Parts: sequence; structure tokens; C-alpha cells
Amino acid sequence: VPELDTWRTGISFVEPGRIVVRGYELPDLVGRATFGELVYLLVTGRYPTSKQGRMAEAVLVALADHGVHAPSVLATRIAASAGSPLQASVAAGIAAVGDHHGGALAGAMQMLEGIRSAGPHDATMRRAAELRVEEALRDGTRLPGFGHPYHRPDPRAQALHRVVNQLGCSGAATSALGLVTESLSASGRALMPNVDGAAAGVLLDIGVEATIGRGFFLVARCAGLVVHAIEEQQRERPFRTIAPEHVTYDGPDPKTRASPPCGANSH
Ligand SMILES: CC(C)(COP(=O)(O)OP(=O)(O)OC[C@H]1O[C@@H](n2cnc3c(N)ncnc32)[C@H](O)[C@@H]1OP(=O)(O)O)[C@@H](O)C(=O)NCCC(=O)NCCS
Repeated sequence: VPELDTWRTGISFVEPGRIVVRGYELPDLVGRATFGELVYLLVTGRYPTSKQGRMAEAVLVALADHGVHAPSVLATRIAASAGSPLQASVAAGIAAVGDHHGGALAGAMQMLEGIRSAGPHDATMRRAAELRVEEALRDGTRLPGFGHPYHRPDPRAQALHRVVNQLGCSGAATSALGLVTESLSASGRALMPNVDGAAAGVLLDIGVEATIGRGFFLVARCAGLVVHAIEEQQRERPFRTIAPEHVTYDGPDPKTRASPPCGANSH
């Protein structure tokens, strides 16, 4: 029977004067590992090659911030404007990450993993991509990692693609992303990969598992959320809200309602 107060972890341990992370003495990493390399080490348990580290770093940079109107940033700034402390404001932004924002990274990784596993032949991967696109169009569901409300194409996806090409580390998942794009285009949908789609290909190709996808977004976006919360509180008037004239009430008109019965709650 395991003791209730016994914990185990393969991530890190600490004893007086010593900190070990994933089998490395932390002081040895300080000044040597970039933040991207450290995140890669933490999530995979392996020290990255220089290319893997640079790609992990590139993904973190691409995801760190995306303006006030991104749902996570908006939620953080509203909470900060209401006077919530920094950590609560950042937590509000983290809570606004969902399947349609940030969370699409994990979904895109799962999708590309499925198409990649139909390989190694181009033809079988292409068929798997076509089937996935046909399924989405038939069911009216959205392919994670494709489309964007403002960017056509998403410059962050293009930038990641450029770095992948520069470093020569394109792999089967990035190819799978291209096959989905081609299948969409052949079906008459000119949807391009967004940053989540591009990051999904990169992360799978450098050996990151799909289960950590959403976590990668959270780690990166925290940097942006922290400064948005601070800027909101330092520069803006508190209690930011929506102007009442921008809100439409379409519930019942009180004139159509009978008066509430007296003592409705008494027994
Ligand atoms: C991000 C997103 C919400 C932006 O949507 P948008 O540009 O405002 O596009 P709309 O919601 O107006 O959709 C326009 C059309 O394209 C389709 N479409 C948009 N994104 C699609 C996708 N990823 N897969 C399939 N169809 C998609 C919509 O179904 C809609 O079709 P319709 O006109 O036949 O109804 C949308 O592309 C999406 O849900 N993508 C998947 C989730 C994702 O990757 N999110 C991360 C964003 S960085």
C-alpha cells in the first residue's frame, strides 16, 4: 500500500545546495540552455539538439503574444481592469484558452500524428489527409490549426515555415500539414495553416508528443499575459467594460410579463 505522504517525480529533485532537473544539475544549465531548450528538456526528458532547441524557441516566440483582442489577452486585461492581482489576471487569460484559441495546437498535433502514422509512403499519407478533410467538410467540423479571423495567411505560420526550411528540419508532420492544405485547396477551401497548425508540425517533427501541445501554448502565452495585465493596471482607467449601446438585450419585454407572484418563495 503506497504511503499517502510519498510522492514521486521524474522531473526534478532538490536537496540542500542542489537542484537537479531531468538528470542535469540546474546550475550547469544556467547560462548554457536557452529557455526553449529548457522547455524541451522539461517536456520530453531529453536534452535537445541545437536544431530542436532552436525550433522549440521559435515556437515559444511565435505564440507569446497576439494583441489585445486575442481571447486570452482580453480575459486577462478585463480581470486586471477589475483590480484582480497579477496572478489572478493571468489565470483568467489562461482559462480563456480553449479548443478555438490556443487549444487547437493539441488538436492539430493529434490530426497530423494520425496522418503521419499512415506513412511512410507519400501516397498513403496523402490519402489519409484527403479522408480527414472529407470528414471535416462532410460533418461541418473545423480542422484544428487552419484558418484565422484576421490573418490570411498567418505570418507566424510563415515565419515558422521559414525557420524550418533554414534549419532543414522539416519532417513527416510538416509534410502532413502541407498535404492537408493541398486537400483543402482541392476541395475548394482556401484555408491556410495558422500558427497552431505550423507549430503542431514543428513540435511533432522535433519529437514533442501531442499530449503536451496545449501546455506549450500556455507556457509561451504566459509571457504576454503578464505584461498585458501590468500595462492594463498601470496605464488604463479601472473597470473597463463594454459601452451599454454595444449590448443588445433580446430577452422578454417586462411589459409582456405578469407581476411576479407575491410570496412565491414562501412555503
Ligand atoms: C480560427 C477560426 C475560428 C477563424 O474563423 P474565421 O476566419 O472567423 O472563419 P469563419 O468562422 O467565419 O468561417 C468561414 C468559413 O470557413 C470555414 N472554416 C474556417 N476555419 C475552418 C477550419 N479550420 N476547418 C474547416 N473549415 C473552416 C467555416 O466553417 C466557414 O464555412 P461556411 O462559410 O461554409 O460556414 C477558424 O478558422 C477555426 O475554428 N479554426 C480551427 C481552430 C484553430 O485552429 N484555432 C486557432 C486559431 S490561431
